[in-house]
Amino acid sequence: MCLDIAPDAAANPDESPFTNELVFSIAGSSENAEEQELVAVKYHHVVRRADNGLIFHDQIGHWIYEASTNIIIHSLTIPRGVCLLAGGSFQEKDGESIFTVDAKAGSDTYGIVQSPFMIEKAKTKAFQMRMVVKANELNYREVTSLHIYGKDFEHIDTSSLKRVTYHQD
Ligand code: HEM
Repeated sequence: MCLDIAPDAAANPDESPFTNELVFSIAGSSENAEEQELVAVKYHHVVRRADNGLIFHDQIGHWIYEASTNIIIHSLTIPRGVCLLAGGSFQEKDGESIFTVDAKAGSDTYGIVQSPFMIEKAKTKAFQMRMVVKANELNYREVTSLHIYGKDFEHIDTSSLKRVTYHQD
């Protein structure tokens, strides 16, 4: 089950059940400043309304990992004029791979870049995400802290996905 809780000008937030498709592929490795050794996957995330199949969220990004420091970096961009870079760490526990990241507007490192319109009307102030992968299951919860319609709003997405295909190039 996937649920999106999104802002609405009316008093009650919009609650939208959705279907979720996440496609990951290898993005190779990079060495930064002859020191930092990163590996990455890229993904495309497409969200459709459960009732009519129409796309209402599209997201692309990378998950990046450095083994020696345990750093996780998650970059994402959505076609509202918002990009962010969230940072955090990786943990393995009881067969689960746990990825925890966050970003804050105003940070020079793990921060958020957004269009002038979005800053003024629907600013993303912060982003937090916890993703857990175990065998063929991926679960995540993300909280996007917005300032919209004159007030703060926690835009929350939770999802539980099952792996359906796997190709190794
Ligand atoms: C599975 C993930 C997500 C889904 C399904 C989703 C869906 C939605 C929906 C339904 C709205 C209400 C307005 C509309 O219908 O377009 C909305 C608003 C918004 N979302 Fe998301 N969202 C997701 C993730 C994110 C993320 C990661 C960000 C930013 C980093 C974000 C930023 C925003 C902003 C700024 C708005 C306010 C725009 C407005 O309502 O005018 N969303 N989102």
